[in-house]
Amino acid sequence: MPKGKLTIVGSGAVGTSAAHWAVSRNIADEIVLVDVIEGIPQGKALDISQSAPLCGFTGKIVGTCSYEDTRESNVVIITAGLARKPGMSRDDLLQKNVEIVKKVTENIVKFSPDTIIIVVTNPIDAMVYTVFKVSGFPKNRVVGMAGVLDSSRYRTFLAQALGVAPKDVTALVMGIHGDNMLPLTRLASVAGIPVEDLLSKKELEEIVHRTKFGGGEIVEHLKTGSAFTTPGLCAIEMAQSILLDEKRVLPCAAYLEGEFGISGVFLGVPVVLGRKGVERIVEFPLTQEERDALSKSVEAVKKQVEATGL
Ligand code: LAC
Repeated sequence: MPKGKLTIVGSGAVGTSAAHWAVSRNIADEIVLVDVIEGIPQGKALDISQSAPLCGFTGKIVGTCSYEDTRESNVVIITAGLARKPGMSRDDLLQKNVEIVKKVTENIVKFSPDTIIIVVTNPIDAMVYTVFKVSGFPKNRVVGMAGVLDSSRYRTFLAQALGVAPKDVTALVMGIHGDNMLPLTRLASVAGIPVEDLLSKKELEEIVHRTKFGGGEIVEHLKTGSAFTTPGLCAIEMAQSILLDEKRVLPCAAYLEGEFGISGVFLGVPVVLGRKGVERIVEFPLTQEERDALSKSVEAVKKQVEATGL
């Protein structure tokens, strides 16, 4: 069965990481890495292509500055934009990245009017809204990457505290990709056992706090940029579920129309990702405390969206 064509816009650190993971997981027949700086996407694609014999990639990967080459992509991942520097919030990036993302979206829509777009550029919750508005795509074909990353961080920290294999920890982070995100302790478990029965309230609070500021912790270390290895993989986790119609249930920024009592914004919620994109939002009852926390996320996202001027 053909796996389809994947375009990654932006050959910076996250885009390159995404291309690397896409090749190592062999999830597409064709991967296109596109950027505006002549030579960078070409060089990076060539480098990554040479890992094919070692990782078993069977498709082709192309680096280009021309959107013509992205024609008829099944999935497009947008990573283009500026990254955070120390002391910068994701919101500081907003104005600059709105302009970049608008232009990218127009180019993508022109050559791939039926594609599904995964938005990674920060601030994600506002950028995904920007893509939705500019593309005019239906809501199932525009989705933001954030929850997969935040949940993966959360699961990692929980696994470390418990001394267990990270893959045996499942956990959900909902809401904005920012300080007001909601790592749910009630639903986190290890092999089905609630973590609330295994860790103290204080330990859990510390893990939740570290998760919320997990991106910033990395920026403080790096000083010249933000996380890229895992963010790239998270985008590929989503792209894979779409291209291979896996129907994974992943926390993603999806457009809400009444789910969880919220409307008119993109917000991190559990969704089913398949060939049609966001095939379903998995709605479930929240406690009053969780609902209150989520409404803080909504307020923060609405402020970001207002600042886009769209
Ligand atoms: C982070 C950036 C990618 O959370 O937002 O690391």
